[in-house]
Amino acid sequence: MSSMRFATKVVIATLLSTSQLWAAPSAPVHTAPAIIPQPLQLQVSTGQAGFSLTEGIKVHYSVSRSEIGRAAVRALMAAGLPVLPEENTGELTVQLVEHENPEWHRICVTPEHISLQIADEQALHSAAQTLAQSMTQAADSTPALPAMLVEDAPLLPYRGLMLDPCRHPQTVDETCKMLQIMARYKLNRLHWHLADDQGWRIEIKSYPRLTEVGSHRSETPTLANHEQGDGTPTTPFYFTQDEVRHVVAYANSLGITVIPEIEVPGHSSAAIAAYPELGNSDIPGYAPRVATTWGVLPYTYSPKPATMQFLSSVFAEICELFPRAEFIHIGGDEAPRDQWQKSAYARDFMQQNNLRHTGQVQHWFTHRMAELMATHGRRIVGWDEIIDDGAVPADAVVMYWRSWVRPCSLRRALRAGHDVIQSPDSHFYFNFCQGKLPADPRYKPHGSLSAQQDWRHVYSYNPIPANITPEQRRHLIGLQANCWSESIANGHKLEYQCVPRICALAEVAWRPAELRNADEFLQRIIAHYPWFDAQQINYRREDGSPAR
Ligand code: ACM
Repeated sequence: MSSMRFATKVVIATLLSTSQLWAAPSAPVHTAPAIIPQPLQLQVSTGQAGFSLTEGIKVHYSVSRSEIGRAAVRALMAAGLPVLPEENTGELTVQLVEHENPEWHRICVTPEHISLQIADEQALHSAAQTLAQSMTQAADSTPALPAMLVEDAPLLPYRGLMLDPCRHPQTVDETCKMLQIMARYKLNRLHWHLADDQGWRIEIKSYPRLTEVGSHRSETPTLANHEQGDGTPTTPFYFTQDEVRHVVAYANSLGITVIPEIEVPGHSSAAIAAYPELGNSDIPGYAPRVATTWGVLPYTYSPKPATMQFLSSVFAEICELFPRAEFIHIGGDEAPRDQWQKSAYARDFMQQNNLRHTGQVQHWFTHRMAELMATHGRRIVGWDEIIDDGAVPADAVVMYWRSWVRPCSLRRALRAGHDVIQSPDSHFYFNFCQGKLPADPRYKPHGSLSAQQDWRHVYSYNPIPANITPEQRRHLIGLQANCWSESIANGHKLEYQCVPRICALAEVAWRPAELRNADEFLQRIIAHYPWFDAQQINYRREDGSPAR
């Protein structure tokens, strides 16, 4: 993980002497906060005066003038805290301190003062969300923070959610609302799945037919019966580059980096429908079109110069649109090989390049993508199939999803020295069923009803497997949930699928398994219902019913 470290690890925001502080004590605060994820250390002084928020949090001018201080003010405001940046009374101080974990932070709230100590700018958003989640009312009903001391750092640096606007559209507003929910729970990566068989969802200036042709399809499987089409053409749907920049900037303001995904070499029917010359066009019956069914489809890119020119142009635009994405996701899952077997061009290509079987064509694509991304200063991340057919560059990140494949691809990736992001479908597929279903047929899930993954199931996962070496432990960089949208036709259902499971994901990625207790966690989830309600989130209640 790259870290945006400041050049010097010295105090660059002023720590003020107590004589300079203005007092802002509240009436006694009786409620302790229910923070998700639970901080590693939390001491709350209930029954005593806290910090009054009635007049806002006044920031000393020197904090407003320092780079880290300004970043802190932005993070606190983005989290919803009433900060007054131009004030001059020194109630808020910010200090950089040495710590090996760049997200480490300490928060001290007294009746007079809020102090943040952070290892790096990366810690600011989590610290801000801890404070935001701690806002409460004092005994006289005025807004306040309790006096408290927090010391905290996450278990894993990459804490992500994957959204899929390909199968069903997700608007900018729906996406930004999910970003807000993610930020609340200290998730810091949105994996944005922008191209698949059923739709191409991002404007690419150099290849306009991707969205002219690839952003709509002639029909969609019905929610009630996935084997049956609804007979209704979809309206074109894609994100313009301005909309992408808006989402990326909004995510950044919340401390979230957006990792874009363009699938290579499979799941690419929409792109090949737009530019048929990119596929294996010499095979019998070749007729690419934007897919109207779910599942694994046969169309794959052909390993031609035109395809490499296409991918090079597309990823150049992608890298420009996502300047902070340290990884670019190249997909790599479920790429069928039949078309390469049938294509005389592909067979000839294999012979010329000493590729012994069609799996090595995918392997060839993965290497080319890694080389291409390196020219942009980025690393590839791919679904775990990318290591099935031979070694890939050591800095490629493997996204582990196939929980059923043996030998386990998580272990194989670690043994090969790759960084790994875990998103096993056994626990982190938020499109899967959560148990008891609402009577409303729109809530019918995709896939097996027996694959029940309620928040307790998500919470039971331990992302640090037994019997790994300290070196392998360092390569376990992340945890992510994937929310595929075949059965999620709108933002309402998306929220039902994700909340409160996203809270469980957040705590599993943050807090070591031995410090977690599901029954205690349930009490904190319930304490968050008023925030869900205030945000008008359609969360899943404990009895399975939707909140809205
Ligand atoms: C996947 O679920 N095909 C990554």
